Amino acid sequence: MIRLSLNSIIRRVSEYTDYDVHRAIEELNIMVVGVGGAGCNAITRMKKLGLDAPTVAINTDMGNLKMVDADKKILLKDMKGRGTGGNIEIGERSAVRAREEISEIFHNIDIIFLTTGLGGGTGTGASPVIAEIARKEGALVISIVTIPFNIEKARVVRAKEGLKKIMKDSNTVIVLENDKLMDIVPQMPLDKAFMVMDHLISYTIMSFIDMITKPSLINVDISDLRGVVERGNLSTILLGEGDINNPRKIVTDALNNPFMNVDYTTANGALIHLTVGEDATLKTIYSTVDTVSSFLRNDPKITMGARIEPEYQGRMRLLVVLTGIKVPLLGEMKIEKNLGIYTIR
Ligand code: GTP
Repeated sequence: MIRLSLNSIIRRVSEYTDYDVHRAIEELNIMVVGVGGAGCNAITRMKKLGLDAPTVAINTDMGNLKMVDADKKILLKDMKGRGTGGNIEIGERSAVRAREEISEIFHNIDIIFLTTGLGGGTGTGASPVIAEIARKEGALVISIVTIPFNIEKARVVRAKEGLKKIMKDSNTVIVLENDKLMDIVPQMPLDKAFMVMDHLISYTIMSFIDMITKPSLINVDISDLRGVVERGNLSTILLGEGDINNPRKIVTDALNNPFMNVDYTTANGALIHLTVGEDATLKTIYSTVDTVSSFLRNDPKITMGARIEPEYQGRMRLLVVLTGIKVPLLGEMKIEKNLGIYTIR
């Protein structure tokens, strides 16, 4: 029996196309934008993890901005560099004032990943304005947001309002609940638990970028991405890792640990990204994707990508982005489109 190695295919594809990751990113014009304290922290983390795309950090808090490792930094000036103290109106107003500067940076960008921790004033107030500017500049906007812990009641209320606004101008919003950290790392100190979330956000964004810029068994490009993410919808992610000989367990582990309280079976799209070693076979890849789709009821549109990391020999890491999901936290929401204007109630 011929064991078809994923790596040998990719190597051949790479040689054939004389592939260059940096060039692919430049040609596609991808940008990663962090807004507010949590969003800017995520940017720094991505840089540490080796993110290859240009980054922009946007905040009202000058002290935080100074510590951030980003290619560009924008200080939203309404509060004289001191943060908004939870005031959404100030966050929103300061982003509106910086509209021209932000538009200029977003000019000619194809895909913008926008990340923020909802619940504070800057991220919740400024992010919807920034998403709107990005969309008007013609970018595909993928927002990745966190919802505060349930015990932070006032922040959760603010986060829900912010989420509805950011949905209007994002192609999709990937939602992660901080509360899920209680299931995953209950004993961890808060700052370290936040680091877990930042890592997850970084991993998700970097996987998206790999998926559309690096060669894979099935090529995923921006039009595939546009096909899966429909404006105004919500997404979440599932993550699993384990022995490559037992892909079903990896999938069920991922499904049992969602980062959002959500009914994933009704998802209408799925992006499946696998990180595997050089020993991964086509059969394993196929059976993993097949197992994920067997759990989804609505015959969702599935797009997949795979990446080789030598240290994953014998193992597989699975990231699934489920799109078009319903989020109980938000209750029933109506998305209306009238003359190209989206309203979310
Ligand atoms: P203001 O400080 O009020 O102007 O807004 P901000 O948007 O800068 O707030 P910040 O990002 O500091 O906090 C918003 C929410 O993000 C908080 O309610 C926390 O739930 C979460 N958060 C805070 N710090 C971090 C962090 O380092 N990582 C992650 N993942 N989340 C964080």
